[in-house]
Amino acid sequence: MELNPVFCICVLLSVILAPASATELTSNANGWVWEGEAVSLYCSTQLIAASFFWHVDGDLLPGGDEYQIFEDPLGPNSTLIISPFFRNHTGSYTCFAYNSTLNEASNALNLSVAKPPSNPIIDCKSEAYTEQVLLGCSWAGGQPSANVKLSFNGTVKEGQDEVNWTVSLDYEVQQPELICQGDQVGKKSECKIVYERPLSSNHDNNAVTSVTEGENAKLTVTLNTQNSLHPTFSWFHLNPDPVDITNGGGKFKVESGHSQSSLLISNVTQSEKGTYECRARNIIGSTTFKLNLEVKSQESPGSSGLSGGAIAGIVIGVLAGVALIGVGGFFLVKKVF
Ligand SMILES: *[C@@H]1O[C@H](CO)[C@@H](O)[C@H](O)[C@H]1NC(C)=O
Ligand SMILES: *[C@@H]1O[C@H](CO)[C@@H](O)[C@H](O)[C@H]1NC(C)=O
Repeated sequence: MELNPVFCICVLLSVILAPASATELTSNANGWVWEGEAVSLYCSTQLIAASFFWHVDGDLLPGGDEYQIFEDPLGPNSTLIISPFFRNHTGSYTCFAYNSTLNEASNALNLSVAKPPSNPIIDCKSEAYTEQVLLGCSWAGGQPSANVKLSFNGTVKEGQDEVNWTVSLDYEVQQPELICQGDQVGKKSECKIVYERPLSSNHDNNAVTSVTEGENAKLTVTLNTQNSLHPTFSWFHLNPDPVDITNGGGKFKVESGHSQSSLLISNVTQSEKGTYECRARNIIGSTTFKLNLEVKSQESPGSSGLSGGAIAGIVIGVLAGVALIGVGGFFLVKKVF
């Protein structure tokens, strides 16, 4: 088989011309530019003794102070700076390198104005359900979408605009810190929430609530943890073994909110007296609060079981005390004047 000379010349020509096709356009902007900021486009070629011109959307650049072109004939390369960049500069940019024999178009580069997310800062959020909690990082509404990273308990989840993660209550959490990090076209935002087990700094485990037989009683636990992840509450009556009365029915009724739980006991009798426990639990841990109920009998209201003789003794004691104070006051007054 004989080689065709025309074919050989063609192959030779394409080998020689191949490097000339490398007129390359790059940018520091990666497609998105913040409104009012500057962007630079860099065009390089392998054409010898090249000059350059620029196109946007197929036409020569319109005139204007915002366009600055720097040419380096030794490179050879050309740099186009658009500053400030506005919405009306959105488009597809190409550069052309030419010399006395060739004219080469570069790849096209699209530039658009970036739009920030609807919220200026990223949002850390959590919603608690009975057996699980939904953690989320949200920084949505931007053009292009923000890259969002959620970190919790040593696990990292990544996505765009919004990342959610549902954590089951059955697992223990070692690092109860939710960190959300967002990055949109180089602008960064971060938020953090450190969750705690449910706590109440003003709860007194020794406090006693008194009611009279036949009345209704209300025992309440109020949490003051800032980020307690809306805990679940369960109630027990120590009898002396704990009896779960959370879904008690009949006499017992539990009313719980995000940071408070109350046990309502209707028509109290002596068998409801004693100590109650309220256990508040979230994914970080649980806390047990004690509440004590005293039930006074109806026959001698307010007597707290003291005999008539004892009461008389107290009354005499108090009268004596008042008398002494009076005498003391007399001497004090004497001394001053
Ligand atoms: C784009 O808009 C800016 C400001 O509104 C203006 O100064 C500039 O001349 C415009 N340029 C083009 C190419 O339309
Ligand atoms: C938290 O991390 C620990 C240790 O890696 C793991 O055992 C546990 O299951 C994790 N908890 C959750 C809720 O993922």
